Amino acid sequence: MREKVRLEIEKVLGSNFKLETPPEGFGDYACGVFHLAKERGRSPKEVAEEVSSEFFSSLFEKVEPCGGFINFTISKEALKEELLSITEKGGEYGKKEDRRVAVIEYSSPNIARRMGVGHLRSTIIGESLARIYRHLGWRVEGVNHLGDWGTQFGKLIYQIKKEGVDPSSLTIEKMEELYVNFHKDGDEEEGRKYFSMLEKGEREAREIWDLCVKASMKEFEKTYKELEVEIDHVIGESFYENMLPGIVEEARKIATESEGALIVEFDDMPPAMLLKSDGSTTYFTRDLAAVKYRKEVFKPHLMLYEIGAEQSLHMRQVFRAAEMLGIKEETELFHVAHGMFSLKEGKMSTRKGRVVHLRDVLEEAKRRALLLIKDESLKEKEEVARIVGTGAVKYGNLKVHHKRNIVFDWDEVITLKGDSGPYLQYTALRCKSVLSKGGSYGEFDDLNEEDLSVVREMMRFKECLQDAAENFSPNILAAFAYRLARSYNLFYENYKITGNNGRMAVTEGTFILLQTALHLLTVSLPPKM
Ligand code: ARG
Repeated sequence: MREKVRLEIEKVLGSNFKLETPPEGFGDYACGVFHLAKERGRSPKEVAEEVSSEFFSSLFEKVEPCGGFINFTISKEALKEELLSITEKGGEYGKKEDRRVAVIEYSSPNIARRMGVGHLRSTIIGESLARIYRHLGWRVEGVNHLGDWGTQFGKLIYQIKKEGVDPSSLTIEKMEELYVNFHKDGDEEEGRKYFSMLEKGEREAREIWDLCVKASMKEFEKTYKELEVEIDHVIGESFYENMLPGIVEEARKIATESEGALIVEFDDMPPAMLLKSDGSTTYFTRDLAAVKYRKEVFKPHLMLYEIGAEQSLHMRQVFRAAEMLGIKEETELFHVAHGMFSLKEGKMSTRKGRVVHLRDVLEEAKRRALLLIKDESLKEKEEVARIVGTGAVKYGNLKVHHKRNIVFDWDEVITLKGDSGPYLQYTALRCKSVLSKGGSYGEFDDLNEEDLSVVREMMRFKECLQDAAENFSPNILAAFAYRLARSYNLFYENYKITGNNGRMAVTEGTFILLQTALHLLTVSLPPKM
């Protein structure tokens, strides 16, 4: 709708205006006329009054001057048309064509360790952004930048050998335990030696490392399945190993030697290390290689990195170095930096020490979701609890802007009331049930006043989707879904819906948009709840 409005206003005001959403009671859209007033050398108020009468589009029911602004109210006809388009297009509504390509890196856990809640945020936000861009027609390449390389894996292999552990029996828990043991009495020197064997491709070290990757991936896959997340490519840090000598050579032109190491210096940031004094490469070197690789293979217009904010400096160094080397070119690189995630004190015991693991959060979510399910006879109770529990965790993450810290309060996350995943799922199912009981409805001529208020929320879908993509902010879409659900529920409580064609259409439109928005927010609908 916003685009249609923009086009109409352009006809009268030219292209120099900013479209806004006015406060409640002042129409649906608004724009100031300050530029035009300046051009004409008159007061904005006078100009607003004058030009308001120049709008004749059937898109508007009212065009009213208000100080230096003009307020626009969308007409019933236009709203009806929008609703028809939603019910006709169904899940296709809002889809676009676009030839652009986005590489979105997300999740990226480290092998041999359980995923933490930071990876949970990354996984959910990244997956949501991927779905949003796809809906807008982009080709999206999702990348899981697995942390599978570095001296710590030398330590792990050394410890496996030392304790005589059978590497084919490894689990993530066991590998974590081995790290702990290493840090108690392990020999750093030995650890480095094993990593260098790994780097040289020595067979036994390589085989053990392979099994570590496999055991870790097996565990991660379980989590992805539970979260219904599919990442197109797993390209771990180790993948770049044989490109590193090349990238180091290339980077020599921007690097300096310092105490035997090779570093890249910046005017406004601390230096980044390209080669350590012992000749080994770093996390930074591998990231630089990854930029180059992704550029060459995917030819993207946009590269997003969904990683915690604590890595902001590192990402700025990588982006800057890529720019200095000319490997960034036209591509926009952006770090979607997420804030911290924690649990409100006392709401969940962190049994195993201070770190909160992703799996524990999901288990707790399922446990609580189970208590929410009222229908005792429901057969697929466990599966419904998974969809509702994970849905609640996902929505609870996505409704908050990625930059902000989250303090999870289970009572607000897993509830049927207020701005929560279960509330939205419940509302969508409510629509579905009304539709199944109401039979088919035919043509509808008019929309009643009460229908209009719901459709006015629906008409915001496309603009919210656009804004969510442009600002890498799924929370904008989450806010849309919540406003629509709230508006529909108010309508549902006050009016009899079945038997009224307009209201049935509103119900169908609501269902379609809630389901689509939830899908873009990675949340599915349970069959019942
Ligand atoms: N594996 C890292 C971690 O768990 C995140 C990787 C981030 N991505 C990157 N391109 N550096 O902290």
